[in-house]
Amino acid sequence: MKKIKIESTIYVYENLEALPQDVFYLVERAKEARNNAYAPYSKFKVGAALVLDNNEVVTGNNQENASYPSGLCAERTAVYYAGSQYPNAKILKMVIVAGSEVNKTDEAIPPCGACRQAIAEYEVKQELPIEIYFMGETGRILKSNSLKNLLPLLFNKSML
Ligand code: THU
Repeated sequence: MKKIKIESTIYVYENLEALPQDVFYLVERAKEARNNAYAPYSKFKVGAALVLDNNEVVTGNNQENASYPSGLCAERTAVYYAGSQYPNAKILKMVIVAGSEVNKTDEAIPPCGACRQAIAEYEVKQELPIEIYFMGETGRILKSNSLKNLLPLLFNKSML
C-alpha cells in the first residue's frame, strides 16, 4: 500500500495591525456585514467580504430560518451574490469574521465544509486561487493562499 501525504500551509497574523492595509479594509467591511446577519436561532453571526478583480467589494452574512436547514452561511451568501452580480469577475480575496452573541469567540473560525465546496466551485471556475482570511471576534487571523489548503482532494467539475 502506498501512502499519500497531504500538506496545507496556513499563515498566522497575530492581530489586525499585522494585516496588509487592503485586507484590514475588508475586515471592516466583513464586520459591517456581520452586524446585519440574521441569526436569531444560533446567535452566531458571520460576515464575509470579497474583493473582485473589477475592484468591487461584495459582502454577505448568515441568514437563518425557522426551518433551520433553509438558512445559509455568510460565505455562500457572499460568493453566490458575487456570482450572480458579476459572473465574469474573479474573486481575489475573501475575509470571514465570526462571533457569537453568547460565547467569547477568540479563535479564528474557518468556513464550514459546505462553504468550502461552494468557494471551491469559483476557484476552479476562475482558474485563480482565492486568498482566504478568517478570524473570530478577537484573536489572531489565519490565512490560506488558496481554498485548496482548506479542502484537499476537492470534488470538482473535471470529475463529472
Ligand atoms: N455559519 C456561517 O455563516 N459560516 C460558517 O462557515 C459556519 C456557520 C453560520 C450558519 C449558522 O447561521 C450559524 O453560523 C451557526 O452555525
